[in-house]
Amino acid sequence: MCGIVGFTSRNKSAVGPLVNGLRRLEYRGYDSAGVALESAEGIKVYKQTGKVAKLDNLLSRALPESERGKYTIGIAHTRWATHGLPTVANAHPHVADNGSLALVHNGIIENYAALRAGLEKRGVKFLSQTDTEVIAHLIAAFDKGDLLAAAAEALKRVEGTYGIAAISEKHPGEMVVARKGSPLVIGVGEDDIVVASDVSAIVAYTRQVIYLKDGDIARITPNGVDIHTLDNSPVTREVQEVDWDIGAIEKGGYEHFMIKEIFEQPDALANTIRGRLDPAGGTAFLSGLSLSPRDLAAVRRVVIVGCGTSLHAGMVGKYLFEKLADIPTDPEQAAEFRYSNPIVGPNDWVMALSQSGETADTLAAVRESIRKGALVSGLCNVVGSTIAREAGRGVYLHAGPEISVASTKAFTAQVTALLMMALKLGRTRRLSFEDGDRLVKEISRLPELVKKVLEGNEAIAKVAEKYAKADDMFFIGRGMLHPVALEGALKIKEVAYVHAEGYQAAELKHGPIALLSEKTPVVALLADIPGKEKTLGNVQECRARLAPVIGVVTEGDEAAAAAVTDALTIPKTCAELSPIVTVVALQLFAYHVARLRGCEIDQPRNLAKSVTVE
Ligand code: AGP
Repeated sequence: MCGIVGFTSRNKSAVGPLVNGLRRLEYRGYDSAGVALESAEGIKVYKQTGKVAKLDNLLSRALPESERGKYTIGIAHTRWATHGLPTVANAHPHVADNGSLALVHNGIIENYAALRAGLEKRGVKFLSQTDTEVIAHLIAAFDKGDLLAAAAEALKRVEGTYGIAAISEKHPGEMVVARKGSPLVIGVGEDDIVVASDVSAIVAYTRQVIYLKDGDIARITPNGVDIHTLDNSPVTREVQEVDWDIGAIEKGGYEHFMIKEIFEQPDALANTIRGRLDPAGGTAFLSGLSLSPRDLAAVRRVVIVGCGTSLHAGMVGKYLFEKLADIPTDPEQAAEFRYSNPIVGPNDWVMALSQSGETADTLAAVRESIRKGALVSGLCNVVGSTIAREAGRGVYLHAGPEISVASTKAFTAQVTALLMMALKLGRTRRLSFEDGDRLVKEISRLPELVKKVLEGNEAIAKVAEKYAKADDMFFIGRGMLHPVALEGALKIKEVAYVHAEGYQAAELKHGPIALLSEKTPVVALLADIPGKEKTLGNVQECRARLAPVIGVVTEGDEAAAAAVTDALTIPKTCAELSPIVTVVALQLFAYHVARLRGCEIDQPRNLAKSVTVE
């Protein structure tokens, strides 16, 4: 989950673009950062612990504007530590060959200890505790005059995952990049070429991009890009156009990306839905699935794999597929699934949920499912991401870039996509046109329904004020609101650092209720759908222990509102859409509690936006 940026230009300094690129990637990981800059006088490396702003200050002191023009090529990195503490020595870039070669890396080198021992035996001195540094020394060791060939030789000996960029004084004006398991994108502009682990660091310079694939290695000079396999066979990769612009990744007047992305949900969901509903057939189109009705009819089981918020969306999917398509559906935590020797085959439809499309465990789950002959689809937000490409078919969320580490609009977009997939699958089975028609109409209302929840933002902020000092909270829900309780708890843990547990409502009395007191607020999900009455019973059990209850209740449901201490109101909708309108209220609640507690919000401590390591 580190961020990599490389930049080379015919006519401008690399310093500013590298630092700006790091700022765009800081959400991926931010415990230290560094740059390596090349000029006729050689390579200079600047590294700093902490955020990119601290590196920027260091560069402002070390490199006055007048000196920056000579550095027209460079590489940069923002780190999320996997091996070795966040220190200057462990920050990237790492150097070799007396500082004449510099390298940045994203990923994990699994055999780095053996490689390091071999290099130390040959007299190489290491300066860091990182796995990355071995790659730099290996490339230097194999450099017989061709940097790309040397890098290819080195990477053939590496086990694990990498996205790298390297420059060397012996090869002025040249940058070598390569990827295996960690994303790397090349932006090809008029005069500049930008390399980054995420397209958000590129769109400020160009929207013409090349997505490298695993095993690709490329030589980049101001004259262009030359891509090969590690065995030096030339490779052609198409140049694609990014379909959003830099404005999409600015805050647009909001205090944080998280609140911006919460408020973007009506538009994001309109984009998720756009062109995918079929009123005439009472179903959904979803051409990206590339599955015929006959293919769908042959499916005997659905498995939904994901991590974190994506796993919670998959857990909601269970209820949607079993209710609408009458098909057994198993949500699986991707790390568990990948190592469980999963029992999947040709009649199982494995759906991989991933906003980033790069989560290592989810990607491994996709690969294992493909190995076992299952039908595999990806539900990703990032176009061209590894999971999307390797799944080969699926549904893009079209929710727009999600910058805040805490996932919000991706969750509601995933549940919406799953709902449309369940509708489509259901209509190849026993779901009637009338029921399909009802759902098509309700799904079309979704942006309006979410807008109504957002109108309650001020009221929700007021309720958050009452509970912002709580150190422990419970979130309870039943049926398809149980995963939403888990998601609400995850949000407030992530951004407000409040210890919160999501629980199936009926489960509270089997132990956790022992923890309740007037100091433990309970958030009860009481949307007016089947199961609400039972959850109201659990609310009484909590109140009998003096715990304050914050109810997410349907507008007009006076009985539910009267049963709770404070109410967050949501609009009336059908059961299938209740997870989406409910979670928006919980997102706002978590955001305001975090804001009131003075938390970092967009880049919470210890977290990264895309977990591309195990
Ligand atoms: C969500 O708020 C978290 N940041 C995290 O749980 C995230 O959902 C998880 O890492 C999966 O990411 P993905 O959707 O990009 O695969």
